Amino acid sequence: MFVNFALMINAAIFASGEGTNAENLFNYFANDPRIKIKLVVTNKDNAGVIARAENHKKNVQIISKAALENYTDKFIEFLKVEKIDLIILAGFLVKIPEAFIKAFPNKIINIHPSLLPNYGGKGMYGMNVHRAVIENKEIESGITIHFVNEEYDKGEVILQAKCIVESTDTPELLAKKIQSLEYEYLPKAIEKFL
Ligand code: GAR
Repeated sequence: MFVNFALMINAAIFASGEGTNAENLFNYFANDPRIKIKLVVTNKDNAGVIARAENHKKNVQIISKAALENYTDKFIEFLKVEKIDLIILAGFLVKIPEAFIKAFPNKIINIHPSLLPNYGGKGMYGMNVHRAVIENKEIESGITIHFVNEEYDKGEVILQAKCIVESTDTPELLAKKIQSLEYEYLPKAIEKFL
């Protein structure tokens, strides 16, 4: 089979937590000649994503929030040397510095576990989002995959998918529904770039 490697894009996943979305992407794109997940970046040296990445033989870089903020240019340079074309934030809880966004215009995407602009902004991540949705007795929630710009959770939307919130749902049950949407739709959103 002829594979045109010139068309392969290199992606980096940034994650701060468990990394189940990252793992889903490793599996989904494992044999896809259009994309290589080359690198995993985390700001937490005890993040679950590290073991998941190592199991999939991914290069892992740990960079603290302070280092990301104080050595932004060096880190950008490192990613350029690695020829990273696409950055996927999958539960990365550090705000991306502006210089970084300028260096990768429309090449950084984020997954957020609500229907933005609802339940976005500072402090709105993971279970905090699901608790707020349940407390407000919303009848639907969902996920948003969007480009990252200078404003938190406000970049152009690439894709949204919804689920119903039942009156009996707990934040934990809602989290499960959101996770299945994320596992289904994040790979599909990435495929739009390939
Ligand atoms: C995901 O639900 C993602 O949407 C959320 O963090 C979780 C990471 O889970 N991101 C945010 O809340 C960003 N504001 P994972 O580590 O198991 O992939």
